[in-house]
Amino acid sequence: MKTSFVIHGLTALVRFFFSASLIFLVATSASNAAPAGVGQMFRLDGGDTTYIFGVNERGELQALYWGGKLAPGDKFPEAHSLPEIASFDPPSTTTPQEYAAWGSALYTEPALKITFADGNRDLVLHYVSSKSTGSSYEVLMKDISREIYVTLRYAMDTESGILARSAVIENREKDAVVVEQAAAAQWTLAPSRYTLSYLTGRWGAEWTLNQEPIQGGSRVIESRRGTTGHQANPWFAISRDDSQKSNGPLSAGEEHGEVWFGALAWSGSWRFTIEKTQLESVRVTGGFNPFDFGYKLKPGEKLETPIFYGGYSNHGLGGASRILHKFELQHILPQSPNPKPRPVIYNSWEATEFNVDVAGQEALAEKAASLGIDRFVMDDGWFGQRKDDRAGLGDWYVNKEKFPNGLKPLIEKVHSLKMDFGLWVEPEMINPDSDLYRKHPDWVLNFSGRPRTESRNQLVLNLARPDVRDYVLGFLNKLLTENDIAFLKWDYNRNWSEPGWDAVTADEQKKVYVEFIRNVYWVLAELRKKHPKIEIESCSGGGGRVDLGILRYTDEVWPSDNTDPFDRLSMQDGFTYAYTPQIMMAWVTASPHWLNGRNTTLAYRMLSSMQGSLGIGDNLNKWSAEDFANAKRLIAAYHEVQKTITQGDLYRLVSPRDDSEFSSTQTVSPDKSQSVVFAFTVATKQGRLFPLLQLQGLDPTAKYKLTAIEGKAIKGTPESASGDWWMHHGVNLDLKGDYQAAMFRLDREH
Ligand code: GLA
Repeated sequence: MKTSFVIHGLTALVRFFFSASLIFLVATSASNAAPAGVGQMFRLDGGDTTYIFGVNERGELQALYWGGKLAPGDKFPEAHSLPEIASFDPPSTTTPQEYAAWGSALYTEPALKITFADGNRDLVLHYVSSKSTGSSYEVLMKDISREIYVTLRYAMDTESGILARSAVIENREKDAVVVEQAAAAQWTLAPSRYTLSYLTGRWGAEWTLNQEPIQGGSRVIESRRGTTGHQANPWFAISRDDSQKSNGPLSAGEEHGEVWFGALAWSGSWRFTIEKTQLESVRVTGGFNPFDFGYKLKPGEKLETPIFYGGYSNHGLGGASRILHKFELQHILPQSPNPKPRPVIYNSWEATEFNVDVAGQEALAEKAASLGIDRFVMDDGWFGQRKDDRAGLGDWYVNKEKFPNGLKPLIEKVHSLKMDFGLWVEPEMINPDSDLYRKHPDWVLNFSGRPRTESRNQLVLNLARPDVRDYVLGFLNKLLTENDIAFLKWDYNRNWSEPGWDAVTADEQKKVYVEFIRNVYWVLAELRKKHPKIEIESCSGGGGRVDLGILRYTDEVWPSDNTDPFDRLSMQDGFTYAYTPQIMMAWVTASPHWLNGRNTTLAYRMLSSMQGSLGIGDNLNKWSAEDFANAKRLIAAYHEVQKTITQGDLYRLVSPRDDSEFSSTQTVSPDKSQSVVFAFTVATKQGRLFPLLQLQGLDPTAKYKLTAIEGKAIKGTPESASGDWWMHHGVNLDLKGDYQAAMFRLDREH
């Protein structure tokens, strides 16, 4: 037995390495009838990538290829299931299925798991039929005996090669079923050595990039919080190791090598399982988090999963993030395909906290306007009995003590200063000390008769309830109808606890994980329909709700409450692996910083924030004339190059991670006519010089003029030189000492 296992296993492994689909071993079919569609292939091409799957001889949908683009005429061998490995791993588990249901003998992560009314939990999906439009497929599958249908959707963006995948599960049985696990997609990578990159964090410390070798077993990244979460973000990248033949350490290349990446468009509990199978292939399964999940489908009902986007680059993690940034700008954001650069904002939160009133806000607005700010945002504290975080959430009427004549006089003042007006709201939350809670204590997530955990003195309104959803849309619509508001900062300052929905029957309660989020999206969509000019920021105590789901409805995000300019360098670095700098709001706040007492110059703070969409959040009443002059100059310079910075191609030249003494980024406009370079020092050691910056992405033969906006290059640096010169010879900066910053622009000369 032992010998046969080893031989059999090794043979399988060698054959699989050679080519998964060349293997032919007789496998037993799950049903007696000949499966439909055997031999059918599905191929999608876009960007630099090709994606292929097919129907194998068992009737299963099998992953065949995802990687660099193949020639149009290349023939791909038909799908054939993989062999068993002895008696322990039969073909149902060794074969990489496109969307594996838990049934038969499946030991790897399933995409779908269902319990039927009679207790049966076996589900085996076989191909039924498909529809195609060229760049998209809808593939229908069905259980081998029961009336459970699954439609897999594939839509390839031909420009970027990003593939949008999702599934619709339909119950045509006579009785209800419970969907206990439903992924949006499963992705399969051929056997190799890989490095996984993913983002984790916590409040005030979001966007840490983690990199680790993918080894045997599973790695789970997830949120069980009812929301996206600060702790992990629904994005991954997997780099193929260049030195796969050596025993050396794995590495993920920034500008070289193959990278597969994905992002889930969902703002509720989610889970990715990254699994290295017994045959060394890597599978990524992602979608609704199956923890505490249970979606009841009555006869005729359907469950649609979120979209899981996946892409490929052969230019390292840098190439992967540039593809993703462009895709977000062109296909995800509400203003896509041409989102406007974000207005430069002033926000009073760190200056005033809850102490907002007409005189104080007007004084700040005047000062902000003198800097060249585009948008004035009043944060928390303007509504209900909101003196601090103990009361008021839920009561969305203007506080008469602070604003006796409503918001209009302040808004008019802001408009007279040539800025538009934005306002903070936290629509999904409620303080028990509020009129709304006194009236509707049943409107919150809770289990009847059980304690209700408060965080920041607040509870979560159950948006899954239609009455709550309508109330939220109602007050927001009224606010925007009665006031000329251009922008909402939409906050969400805690995660779920006791996620009960006691207005529905016990077997429907767990639907809250889906219905809540859908209703949040619905409210956002309705609001945008009724007020087409409104712009919205997704904030959740900083970066707790950033994902491609919420980004369909929100124009920007607040990456972190931590605004320390040095901390932000590595957070911004991590953030940009998944998300475009266009949505990355970054405010200049006070020095020393409230979180860590660090002292930095205004220029350092300004430049750190100018890597993204700029805002000022400091108390302008404390600024000197010199501060105003410096900030005004830098805001004007930023306005000129903002589109290049926030919508251009980003190159991370020097990483701030891992105790780096230095950091530098470069962005290049899509037409390569302009480029912007940022450089920062941290705590430098032994008088080391700033590393040579070999620029990237320029037109090699065009001439570019170098202009310093802050700081300088070393003596002798040419004022103008070819793209080749800047890319090969590079620029040496005259940047010494701790916490120094420089910014340059390059403009193509005609
Ligand atoms: C959260 C946000 C902050 C601020 C406060 C207001 O913490 O992240 O920017 O708006 O709420 O209470």
